Amino acid sequence: MKILLLASGGDSPGMNAFLAKIYNSFNKEDVFCCIEGYKGLIENNIIPMYQVDPNAHKFEAGSMVYSSRSKEFQTQEGFAKGIANLSDFDVLVVLGGNGSCEGAKRIMNAGINIIFAPGTIDNDVDGTEYSIGFDTAVKECVYAIENTMPSMNSFSRTCIFEVMGRHSSEIAKEITNRCNVDYLICEESDLDYDKIAKLITARYNQRKGTTIVIRENILDIKEVIANINKNLYIGDVIRSHIVGHVQRGGKPTQREIDMAEGFASLAVESIKNKQFNLGVYYQNGKFIAKKF
Ligand code: F6P
Repeated sequence: MKILLLASGGDSPGMNAFLAKIYNSFNKEDVFCCIEGYKGLIENNIIPMYQVDPNAHKFEAGSMVYSSRSKEFQTQEGFAKGIANLSDFDVLVVLGGNGSCEGAKRIMNAGINIIFAPGTIDNDVDGTEYSIGFDTAVKECVYAIENTMPSMNSFSRTCIFEVMGRHSSEIAKEITNRCNVDYLICEESDLDYDKIAKLITARYNQRKGTTIVIRENILDIKEVIANINKNLYIGDVIRSHIVGHVQRGGKPTQREIDMAEGFASLAVESIKNKQFNLGVYYQNGKFIAKKF
């Protein structure tokens, strides 16, 4: 059985643990990887997995097989080139988020055996409550808040933390369960400038800082600050921090490694049983394989 592994879209911490677990579950000579996701598939940039020394990287963040967001794979020509390079393999394992999932479905519909696993910090893949990378991304945001606010508090300042998630508010929401957040902005409708200014003023008068979390892709953070300042009469107290890519580059948590290996174990079982065209997901505390 020849197995091809591919990571696509935004990398996520824990991807390497997933890839290494699959590699370690088969004959070393049977496992291959596609370098740079669907881009590498088009270019036939496929190598034996042992060449990337999976066990040296399994606890690291990032993707040891690299990744890409390939526009070319969305074209008919690029897609056809990619499919042609899959003829030697019994199954393609795709690890990625929503966009990668769409690509994997197209490949499956072209007659290739597929296993899909959710790997994105955004935690926005349909059918699964968890995707690889989420726990670590949240951990990095909490770290940013907990290491910034003591300094903000010394001046009774406000800090607005912009966190990733693309169009999903999962990261932003989970942060509020793990540390103190005074105001959460998940949608544009949450931007009640009058309310925010009153909150900041009240806390300032009590000599307290204010923690605000905003999910990315809502509004430019400078604009948000300018709008709050229109309603604020206590001077220059607002600072901002874009948490950004440290969320994707964070060292995977133990939970992340456990989750990644859980998804991988189910993928391995499915492959060994020759059950293909499945998504490996997490629902109600269990890993499940569902028709893709
Ligand atoms: O999808 C993962 C993600 O990190 C999003 O949270 C974010 O919007 C996007 O990727 C950033 O992409 P890039 O690394 O291409 O700037």
